Amino acid sequence: MTDTALQATAAASGASATQRFLADKTGTPATAAADTARVNTLATEVITALHDVVRRHQVTYDEYNVLKSWLISVGQDGEWPLFLDVWVEYVVEEVAHANREGSKGSIEGPYYAPGAPTLPSVATLPMRENEPGTRLLFQGQVTDVSGAPVAGAVLEMWQADDAGFYAQFAPGIPEWNLRGSVVADAEGRFAVTTVQPAPYQIPTDGSCGRLIAAAGWHAWRPAHLHVKVSAPGHESVTTQLYFKDGEHIEDDVASAVKPELILDPKQVADGRNEVTYDFVLAPAS
Ligand code: DHB
Ligand code: FE
Repeated sequence: MTDTALQATAAASGASATQRFLADKTGTPATAAADTARVNTLATEVITALHDVVRRHQVTYDEYNVLKSWLISVGQDGEWPLFLDVWVEYVVEEVAHANREGSKGSIEGPYYAPGAPTLPSVATLPMRENEPGTRLLFQGQVTDVSGAPVAGAVLEMWQADDAGFYAQFAPGIPEWNLRGSVVADAEGRFAVTTVQPAPYQIPTDGSCGRLIAAAGWHAWRPAHLHVKVSAPGHESVTTQLYFKDGEHIEDDVASAVKPELILDPKQVADGRNEVTYDFVLAPAS
């Protein structure tokens, strides 16, 4: 096991994900909560759905108390971002972008960090000396829905390393390792050298891990690259790209794979992989 694997704990990555969410995304809830009728509808239906489960399955007091202590522990572990992003976000993403033209999106997940180093259109993501893993050249073009290049589009990229760990959320990895904001050229083109990420296992030693074990599920997401593509006048796309025939591509614990998001890199000279993927941005609404 690597040092990172020895030290990575659910409590650490969960707490970091919670801090990150509170730092970046507060402000949204206050606006959404101002619509009393909407809150009434949604809260009533969620609570009613819970009642239905209790009646349908004759839930016992013992089971109710297990649920209560589990919900408390999710908060104590800081794992609400992990839980929600794995089991709920994909449906929110589906609803949000059902009618959007252009590239398909996927969940953001808990590990985005704004402010990654800006990189030119031909670049290598920040990585350690001797960063383990197969080198991958990820290149393509950003256009609008008419096919016109989007000059200077920004591709914010983040990913797990060759062992499945994210900088800033697992210990012992430099802050911006395998994270960068790539600025496409005047033709919207980019060519980024990185490493192939490994499949990612959601932490097994916290509350989400206990649920997974208790239910007989597995904790794996297929290997993926995260990309958030944005440009003035266009709708941003937050997405993930996966690898053909990769482990868990068919049974992602976060249900976030779409057929349009599967890369098929080809091996080129000296064992490196290369793949082209183009992004299409819809006009800002
Ligand atoms: C989780 C982790 C990811 O890397 C991701 O893309 C989505 C969700 C998680 O642990 O919740
Ligand atoms: Fe991820």
